[in-house]
Amino acid sequence: MRIAVLNGPNLNLLGTREPEVYGRATLADLERDVRAEAARLGVELTWFQTNHEGAFVDAVQALKGQADGAIVNAAAFTHTSLAIRDAFLAVQVPFVEVHLSNIFAREAERRHSRLADLALGIIAGFGAPGYVLALSALKQKLDAR
Ligand code: DQA
Repeated sequence: MRIAVLNGPNLNLLGTREPEVYGRATLADLERDVRAEAARLGVELTWFQTNHEGAFVDAVQALKGQADGAIVNAAAFTHTSLAIRDAFLAVQVPFVEVHLSNIFAREAERRHSRLADLALGIIAGFGAPGYVLALSALKQKLDAR
């Protein structure tokens, strides 16, 4: 099984970026933990981060035929990007939406996701372990298909 992890803007700054909101784990720490879980589950994992909306759209388009599912933290694009929504509608690859923070307990503009109704489910508010939870949940969903 092949699963892609897609990370959006500013997540490259994890560790130093608003640690009271996003925690002290770096993106490399997250990747290490998710890769360890992937190895345990026998999942082939790809890991991607970009600060650019078009590059994110390209990465979603590239999922078709390349990944069985995806774990997606589109960061601020979550709340704004019709282009990323359209890309997921086009490829029809199942995904779990992840956020480190609980977006539903934050400012009004973060409480709406343009991806959530397309996702298999959402994990938000658990920090870095949320990515590992998402991988486990996605694997179970895909295994059940
Ligand atoms: C985030 C939440 C978004 O609102 C924010 O723009 C981010 C990170 C999260 O993981 O909590 O960059 O997706």
